[in-house]
Amino acid sequence: MLFKLFLTIIREMLFISNFKRQAEPEMLMEEALNIQAYDIEGQEGVLLGVYYYQIAQMCAIIKPGDIVADLGCGPCNLLCILAKLNPDVKFIGVDLSTNMLQQAKKNILNNKIQNIELLCDDITNITKLKSQSIDVIISSMAMHHLPSVESLESLFIEINRLLKSEKRLYIYDFGKVNRVETINFFLSTVQNKYVKEDYKNSLIAAFKVKTFRTFSQKYLGKNIDIYYTRPAHIIVVIKSPSHAITKKQKEDIKNRILQFNSQQKKDYYMLKYFLSLNGLRSQV
Ligand SMILES: C[S@@+](CC[C@H](N)C(=O)[O-])C[C@H]1O[C@@H](n2cnc3c(N)ncnc32)[C@H](O)[C@@H]1O
Repeated sequence: MLFKLFLTIIREMLFISNFKRQAEPEMLMEEALNIQAYDIEGQEGVLLGVYYYQIAQMCAIIKPGDIVADLGCGPCNLLCILAKLNPDVKFIGVDLSTNMLQQAKKNILNNKIQNIELLCDDITNITKLKSQSIDVIISSMAMHHLPSVESLESLFIEINRLLKSEKRLYIYDFGKVNRVETINFFLSTVQNKYVKEDYKNSLIAAFKVKTFRTFSQKYLGKNIDIYYTRPAHIIVVIKSPSHAITKKQKEDIKNRILQFNSQQKKDYYMLKYFLSLNGLRSQV
């Protein structure tokens, strides 16, 4: 395994790219089996470690009284946890998939969450939200679902339009790696065949760090930082400066991490470690 990891890193660093970005086959997630599999992984499976890493980062951007929009909210498993940790914040989950929003509605009801509203709209052109009406934008693993670089640019224009003058945001997505072998290496630990397929499509559909940086600088200004894992740019985080999270948020997140299974713990700490190498600190 270690030798394979070493080889993958060397290839990723030294060789030029051997594949081109290809848009996701299912840009909007409408297929029932895929939604079900994704939802289960988000409630108790492989997504939990990644979610909790992000939730700790998101809490450090959000303040009581804020209106927060989650772009491409999916089944809202991440958003339900975040909403419980931030009861004085109003959250708006935006997604264009009606089936995904049905699942989100169920999850919100099951969790007895009062501070999430759902909106069916296109995140590259959110007709139902007014300019400068949002305090914070968050987005997790959604941007690679867009069909083209042009649509990614439209999304950044939209984020700029929606946010108030103090641009507060946290965006997390996959970045484009150079080699197919790198993708295969990362997929080797995923068991569920739907999640594996979804993960593979996501990594092939990911945008380059360079593209994210260009649009972030052009539309969101200098206060926004971009972080990514190295040597493989598999994860990209774009965010505004953090504040300290509350003691209660810290304890709640820590306690949940303690209950994780070994894979979830590994995912959480790997993400924390690799992003910290690029300067992104986590408070939990
Ligand atoms: C992989 S899911 C991520 C869900 C959630 N944010 C999470 O972290 O689990 C991506 C979501 O983006 C949605 N999506 C893709 N393109 C969209 C668009 N143009 N407008 C709104 N939602 C979109 C999909 O329907 C899907 O629910």
